[in-house]
Amino acid sequence: MLKALQFKGEVVVVTGAGTGIGRSTAEAVAELGATAVLVARTQSKLDEVKTAIEKNGGKAETFAADVSKETEVGKLRDFVAGKWGRAKAIVNNAGNNFISPVTELATEKWRELIEVDLDSVYYMCRDFIPLLLKSDKPSILNVASTFAHIGNPQMPVYCAAKGGVVSLTRQLAVDYGPRGLRVNSICPGPTLSPRVKGYFDSGRADPSGTLAKVMLGRFAQCDEIGNVAAFLVSDAASFVHGASIIVDGGQTIN
Ligand SMILES: NC(=O)c1ccc[n+]([C@@H]2O[C@H](COP(=O)([O-])OP(=O)(O)OC[C@H]3O[C@@H](n4cnc5c(N)ncnc54)[C@H](O)[C@@H]3O)[C@@H](O)[C@H]2O)c1
Repeated sequence: MLKALQFKGEVVVVTGAGTGIGRSTAEAVAELGATAVLVARTQSKLDEVKTAIEKNGGKAETFAADVSKETEVGKLRDFVAGKWGRAKAIVNNAGNNFISPVTELATEKWRELIEVDLDSVYYMCRDFIPLLLKSDKPSILNVASTFAHIGNPQMPVYCAAKGGVVSLTRQLAVDYGPRGLRVNSICPGPTLSPRVKGYFDSGRADPSGTLAKVMLGRFAQCDEIGNVAAFLVSDAASFVHGASIIVDGGQTIN
């Protein structure tokens, strides 16, 4: 089991790796021996994460890209193909949220969030599957949310996008399982990333209402999600396929 958790220099691409859950996932896979390819829009944030990983004895490369843009995902794929020729795993984590009741939701905001949360996953899977299939026991992990499974007030587009991520994941698992590619989604519950902390600090969301629904009575720290994500793309999870893994401190059970 412990040996199967090791990545032995293989390449794991993590989108949205500049902060939050993506950063923790990248740090976890690098600690387990992967070369983490850190992807986000802001180069300075990526440089900070790369330095932290290297200080810890790990390996990382950076690539600045907006993964909601098809052309930029294509350039990322070309970068990975040119440097390594294959990838062991991709973690499609980049995402955002927009809080508004559906009656006040402008079409451009709907489209904007679908582009970031769902289109990006499609571009990444489509462009990376050929590179993944060149590796031994490859996998894809798409970061969805508990809100793919339960409704949450004032988040129509986020819930729709994350439901789409879970459904796309399941479909790809049907097509690519027979070729040895594992495809899963992870559904975090409330996690204290910089973005979520920002919602609470600004008063746009009420932490007490959220916490009342989490049976462990607290938010996850980002590494509590990142550690599970790293496990799921490792060979230690070799029979986990087509699953939507809920990591929510008991938010969805009650
Ligand atoms: N934090 C939570 O409570 C929670 C719960 C469930 C699911 N999630 C999901 O986890 C993922 C990470 O969330 P987080 O809370 O760590 O967020 P975060 O905002 O702290 O981190 C998201 C990262 O993605 C990057 N990013 C955003 N849009 C991008 C784009 N178009 N191209 C490239 N990079 C982009 C950001 O720059 C940032 O580095 C998201 O998909 C989110 O929906 C979070």
